[in-house]
Amino acid sequence: MKTNYYIITGISSGIGAALGKEVLKNNGVLFGISRRNNPELIAFNSKRYNFFEFNLKEVNKIESLIHSIKESISPEKCSSIVLINNAGIVEPIGPVWENESGMLKDNLTINLVAPAMLSTCFFKSFNLWQCRKMIVNISSGAGSHPYQGWAGYCTSKSGINMFTKCVALEQNDQPYPTVVCAVSPGVVDTPMQKQVRSTDAIKFPRKSRFVELKKHNLLSKPEDVARKITQIIEGGKIQNGAIIDLREM
Ligand SMILES: NC(=O)c1ccc[n+]([C@@H]2O[C@H](COP(=O)([O-])OP(=O)(O)OC[C@H]3O[C@@H](n4cnc5c(N)ncnc54)[C@H](OP(=O)(O)O)[C@@H]3O)[C@@H](O)[C@H]2O)c1
Repeated sequence: MKTNYYIITGISSGIGAALGKEVLKNNGVLFGISRRNNPELIAFNSKRYNFFEFNLKEVNKIESLIHSIKESISPEKCSSIVLINNAGIVEPIGPVWENESGMLKDNLTINLVAPAMLSTCFFKSFNLWQCRKMIVNISSGAGSHPYQGWAGYCTSKSGINMFTKCVALEQNDQPYPTVVCAVSPGVVDTPMQKQVRSTDAIKFPRKSRFVELKKHNLLSKPEDVARKITQIIEGGKIQNGAIIDLREM
């Protein structure tokens, strides 16, 4: 019996937690990465759920993290391996010159450098494996549209889109290529959105749009987003390097 393996960052909350549940429901083996664990996933299936307590700011430890995950996967049993770079932060919010020192660096580290390093280590570890391989980078509409007060967030998401397109070109030249795509999930009802709605409007002038969406119950549910992302992964029809907007699906 072959197994589908998933490595998901940001497993403790929001979209990542919903993705984790979807994987376990579909009999996959899950390697979840975040600072906090997810009690719901432990309760759901502690045998197929492996948690790695990890701060993605510590990028120099990413290589050994992926190495220890690789050690737990046997190539003969592997039907597919999927890395979902989902963890992210929106702060700092506000004009860059007012940001607390170091927060811009943290944003770019967690949202861009860490996923790029995880992907790099994924390629190094699995390039020669013949099973189906995929990397899904959770991006945002903010990667293509500038928002006043979100310089770090927009820059990191724009960067992850370009990283996706570049490494997809590299993978196309490999004998067993990994398919890499970026997915913008739309506006999703998670703790990150709660944080956006609680921002000072002077720091983030577009805040009212997000308040209105919540008021009119127009946010997507994390479970629906997770189901759509899983369908993309399992459908196997994604062009390498695609930047996908879930709202168009
Ligand atoms: N919600 C939306 O409307 C929306 C829209 C567009 C894009 N997105 C993107 O979707 C992704 C998930 O967001 P969400 O809305 O589900 O947010 P969320 O509920 O705030 O979850 C963020 C996740 O990232 C993890 N994380 C944050 N900092 C970390 C660190 N230093 N090390 C390890 N893990 C860290 C958190 O885990 P710990 O705190 O336990 O470490 C948490 O599991 C993000 O990339 C976000 O940019 C969200």
